[in-house]
Amino acid sequence: MQGKHGRTSRVCPEPENMKKLVVLSGAGMSAESGLRTFRDMGGLWEEYDVYEVASPAGWAKDRALVLKFYNERRKQLLESSPNRGHLGLAELEKDFEVRIITQNIDDLHERAGSTSVLHLHGELRKSRSMVDPDLIYDIEGWELNEGELCEKGSQLRPHVVWFGEPVTAFEEAAGIVSRADILVIIGTSMNVYPAAGLIDYAPAGIPIYVIDPNEVFIPGYPRLHVIRKKAGEGIADLINELQKLEQ
Ligand code: APR
Repeated sequence: MQGKHGRTSRVCPEPENMKKLVVLSGAGMSAESGLRTFRDMGGLWEEYDVYEVASPAGWAKDRALVLKFYNERRKQLLESSPNRGHLGLAELEKDFEVRIITQNIDDLHERAGSTSVLHLHGELRKSRSMVDPDLIYDIEGWELNEGELCEKGSQLRPHVVWFGEPVTAFEEAAGIVSRADILVIIGTSMNVYPAAGLIDYAPAGIPIYVIDPNEVFIPGYPRLHVIRKKAGEGIADLINELQKLEQ
């Protein structure tokens, strides 16, 4: 940022003057941390039947399989760390009011230092009562097993939004996007609704960046700023582009 003596200095803007930078992230955000995506080559949905491990019907049919699926992902998460993409987004909080809306159930954005993270599809490291959805608990370690009960005596389930269940945080997310000055979409195939529909809530004409090593097809948005890179590399390009925007 240009200082008052013409020197380029890092003059951080006052919080109330910061532009609102909203991020919509997906599984690709965490790929370089070693967590698998869903629809890429080798994605989770190539190995598992999504309806067996991520739907109410799957839970009713074979609870042990569902618990095992999420225990395996939670174990891998505990062995993973945030990557340069997560860390870069946390850094941006110095110059922007950053709000992250993620489809991911991992906690890597938080562990990287991001302070405003809204999980559309739930949180892997939390469990929830089956009789009272307001009873939500942290999971110590990587296992949630049969026989672990909520305070009302019902089996605890993963605090994850399964296919066919409502995305209760959507309205809040849409409100955040509707107030954005800049929107950044990272690591999501934009295949799953209602999350993918959030782009439609962006104010007309704001800059929209897409960071993804593959082509992401978003009908009706021909003027996206595409950074065809992985999150870890693409975040540096994004920061450069944002600095140009600020000049
Ligand atoms: N950096 C950035 N993007 C990447 C990287 C990377 N290193 N590796 C892969 N990608 C991109 C892929 O090109 C793809 O566009 O990440 C995207 C991953 O897409 P999906 O696997 O469909 O994941 P996502 O969009 O998050 O899925 C949405 O579907 O199954 C449900 O609830 C689940 O939240 C998930 C939702």
